[in-house]
Amino acid sequence: MNIVVLTGSPRKKGNSATLAARFVEKAESLGAETRTFHLNNLSIKGCQACGGCKTKKDHCVVKDDMSDVLDAVRRCDALVLATPVYFGDVSAQMKMFIDRTYSYLVPDFLTNPNLSRLEPGKRLVFIQTQAQENEDLFSDIYPKYEMFLNMMGFKDNILIRACGVSEAGETAAIPELLEQADAAAASVMKS
Ligand SMILES: Cc1cc2nc3c(=O)[nH]c(=O)nc-3n(C[C@H](O)[C@H](O)[C@H](O)COP(=O)(O)O)c2cc1C
Repeated sequence: MNIVVLTGSPRKKGNSATLAARFVEKAESLGAETRTFHLNNLSIKGCQACGGCKTKKDHCVVKDDMSDVLDAVRRCDALVLATPVYFGDVSAQMKMFIDRTYSYLVPDFLTNPNLSRLEPGKRLVFIQTQAQENEDLFSDIYPKYEMFLNMMGFKDNILIRACGVSEAGETAAIPELLEQADAAAASVMKS
């Protein structure tokens, strides 16, 4: 089982990264091979809308650190996206990755039912952390992105949400969240 983890927070020991690290620890204990990219450490751009992935090549033609990320995700069995909520959405670092997944779509994706260049059956674990305690707030973020990732072939996806966490690493002291990270890893490893 090859698992790729993308952390979208600039805080390497923040709430989302803490839960991602717990997931990794459990998955590795069950035999997974994992690779974590801290997006904030990389030199990356958003999608340039150049159309290169729809005309010249079957992959993103922008050459930056995201090339490696996109390639690793293409080859993975499961993907973990861990992001804080920033102004009601994923972080800008995470959004750059999501926009670059445009390269996973075939040129005629609007009409072709086989719209994805990815092998089907990958699992997605989405970790979302927010300061707001009210779970109803920002509950739209995961369904919005999961819909697109589902179209690209991610199935049986799992959401872990931490609400009401602000200081970096607060999630490390919330047993229920750590259990959810462990359970997500066990579920992914069973597939
Ligand atoms: C620029 C910025 C914008 C934020 N916007 C929101 C927001 O819209 N809603 C919210 O509940 N929390 C917001 N937060 C708080 C973070 O989501 C929260 O502290 C989260 O636990 C951070 O996760 P991390 O430690 O993984 O970075 C914001 C924080 C920053 C720095």
